[in-house]
Amino acid sequence: MHVLVTGGLGHIGSQLIRDLAASNTVRQVTVYDDLSTQRYGALFNLPPTVAYRFVDGNILDAASLAAALAGVDAVVHLAAITNAEGSFEISAQVQRVNHEGTACVVAGCVAQGVRQLIFPSTTSVYGPVQGIAREDCPPADLQPQSPYAAAKLAAEHAVLAADGTGVLRTVCLRFGTIFGPSAGMRFHTAVNKFVFQAATGQPLTVWREVEQLVRPYLALQDAVRAILFMLARPAAGGEIYNVVTLNAPLARILDAIRSHVPALQVEYTNTRLLNQVSFTVDDSKLRALGFVPSGNLEQGVADTLQLLRGLLAAGPVAP
Ligand SMILES: NC(=O)c1ccc[n+]([C@@H]2O[C@H](COP(=O)([O-])OP(=O)(O)OC[C@H]3O[C@@H](n4cnc5c(N)ncnc54)[C@H](O)[C@@H]3O)[C@@H](O)[C@H]2O)c1
Repeated sequence: MHVLVTGGLGHIGSQLIRDLAASNTVRQVTVYDDLSTQRYGALFNLPPTVAYRFVDGNILDAASLAAALAGVDAVVHLAAITNAEGSFEISAQVQRVNHEGTACVVAGCVAQGVRQLIFPSTTSVYGPVQGIAREDCPPADLQPQSPYAAAKLAAEHAVLAADGTGVLRTVCLRFGTIFGPSAGMRFHTAVNKFVFQAATGQPLTVWREVEQLVRPYLALQDAVRAILFMLARPAAGGEIYNVVTLNAPLARILDAIRSHVPALQVEYTNTRLLNQVSFTVDDSKLRALGFVPSGNLEQGVADTLQLLRGLLAAGPVAP
C-alpha cells in the first residue's frame, strides 16, 4: 500500500510516518507538507523499511496535489493550521486552509482514484454539551468555539459527502487534545504547553473555575494507532468516530506535572480563556469496532518532561 500523509511533518504526522513503516502492508509513504511550520527535523532518521518520498507542497495547490496523489492508495489528511487560540486573528486563512484545503484534498482523492481518506478532526467541534458528546449528537451540540474548530466541522462535511464517490471511502476521526512527544512536536495545546512552561520555570496561568472542568485528551500513540486501525479497515467509510484516551479535569494534568516539578507555580486568573467548557466525549463507537486506547496521561507528561530534563536539572537561574 502507498500512503500519502498531508501535514506529515507535524506533531501527529511525524510519529505516524514512522509507525507506518512497521505495518506489513505499507511499502511507500509520501509526506506532503508545505513546511509552513519548518519541522524539518521530523524527517531525520526515518526507518529504512519503507520507501519515503517528501513533497514540498500546499494542499491548496491542486496541480501539485494531483501529481503527488498518482498511484496512492490511502490518504491521511493532517495538514491544517492548528493553533486554535491563534485562529481568531487569522480566521479567513484558517477557513481557507482547513476547510477549502480539505475540499481540495477530497477532490484530488476522487480524481486520482484513491481508495481511502482518513481525516483527523477534533473533539472541539462539540460545544458546551449537556452531558456526554457522541458522534450522533443533536446539531445544537455542535458549537465550535473557535474559527479553527468551525473550519474543521465544515471540512468534516466535505470529507463525508465524498464517501462512495468512485472508489473512495472516507472516515472522520474526532481527536481529543493530543499529549506526548514526537519528532515534530508542538506545544500550543493544553498538556504540552503546561509541561513546557513547567520545565522552563514559567508559572502556569489557569482560569480559576476551569480546574475541575473535564475535557477529552488523546495520547499521541493512541491517535496514531487509531489511524492505523482505520487504514486496516478500508470498508469502514462514511462514519465519524470519537477518539479519546481519557476525559479528565485540568487538575489531574496539574497533579501529573507537579509530581515531577514540585515547585510548579500556578497563577489563577479570573479572565475567561478560550474554549473553556466542560464536556465528556464518548468513544464507545470506535471501541465497538475493537479499538482499545492504551495511552496514559501521567506517562505522556513524564515522557515529555524526560526530554526536557536538562532544564529541570538546572533549576531556576539566579538573577
Ligand atoms: N494536536 C492536537 O491536539 C489535535 C487534536 C485534534 C485534531 N488534530 C488535528 O490533527 C491534524 C494534525 O495535527 P498536528 O497537531 O499534527 O498539527 P501540526 O500543526 O503539528 O502539523 C500540521 C502540519 O501541516 C503542515 N501544513 C500546514 N498548512 C499546510 C498546507 N496548506 N499545505 C500543506 N501542509 C500544511 C504544517 O507544516 C505542519 O507540518 C490537524 O488537522 C489537527 O486539526 C490535532
